[in-house]
Amino acid sequence: MTLGRALLRRRLLVVTGKGGVGKTTVAGLLGRWLADRGRTVVVIEIDPRESLHRLFDAPPSSGRVVAIDDRLYLQNLRPRDVLDQLTRERLRIGFLARRVLDSPVYHHFTEGAPGLKELAVLGHAWRLLEGSTAEAPRPDVVVLDAPATGHGLSLLAAPALVSEVVEGGPFGAMARQLAEFVRAPEETGLVVATLAEEMPVQETLELVEGTRRRLGRAPDLVVANALYPPLPSPRPGAVESPRARLWRLRREANERELRRLAAAWDGPRVELPLVPAEAGAGLLGPLAARLAASLDAREAAS
Ligand SMILES: Nc1ncnc2c1ncn2[C@@H]1O[C@H](COP(=O)(O)OP(=O)(O)OP(=O)(O)O)[C@@H](O)[C@H]1O
Ligand SMILES: [Mg+2]
Repeated sequence: MTLGRALLRRRLLVVTGKGGVGKTTVAGLLGRWLADRGRTVVVIEIDPRESLHRLFDAPPSSGRVVAIDDRLYLQNLRPRDVLDQLTRERLRIGFLARRVLDSPVYHHFTEGAPGLKELAVLGHAWRLLEGSTAEAPRPDVVVLDAPATGHGLSLLAAPALVSEVVEGGPFGAMARQLAEFVRAPEETGLVVATLAEEMPVQETLELVEGTRRRLGRAPDLVVANALYPPLPSPRPGAVESPRARLWRLRREANERELRRLAAAWDGPRVELPLVPAEAGAGLLGPLAARLAASLDAREAAS
């Protein structure tokens, strides 16, 4: 199956990568591409610094689902809010729920229990996909911009880990169900964002290896983001300005790292240019067009 078609069938796409490489931007772009091809999409950002909305010139979500159009929705999610909500639903008696939510034991547990926040996030995505929450129209797909600190890989590995430890109760059942969901390659995919620079490429290769080892498969796609566009060749005899020299060196470094990436990763790769815009349509327009051209070209070529 072609890359584009495979991506269009996924119900959950997790975007991961090193800090600052463009994960949130790539998650937004994938959401845009999927929505433009008829899928109803919720892009979830897990980051208190909220930046996803800036790509779409939309107001911040502050936890709510924000509609960009009738197919594309954004949500900034605090895992903690999901856990509190679940607790409230389980303890229907208000004062009891409040006492639990205020208790130090609950705080310690929700902050410390390994895998709990990951499970809450995936559980939230699952509930959206199953249509069992009134927050958003039922999406066909959730794109998850994984938290900056933990890797998307830990997120996807969490349900299996938790279900090994917690066997009984609603929690164990939820962990098992989510483990099955993220293990199914036709349902859940991983997208790795990177810069074509030494450290991010190194980390990407380690991530690919970790995905093979821990999840038993490879990412769907690696996106090499923010590449310096090739510099026009200088006129013969012209003196290179310092700025042009810097640009040329950066471009050469990008090319070197792309070769290193390609030597170790023969799976699907998309390249996105560095665009001279901060946010909004100036950034979204050219990047969305480039992503669509890459994904649709692979479709046409097959
Ligand atoms: N191709 C690009 N061209 C120009 N600017 C870009 C590009 N990709 C991302 N940016 C900008 O770079 C900054 C970092 O991008 P983004 O927020 O998507 O990274 P991130 O990996 O999500 O970061 P963090 O790890 O902090 O969450 C943002 O200001 C974004 O607008
Ligand atoms: Mg981000």
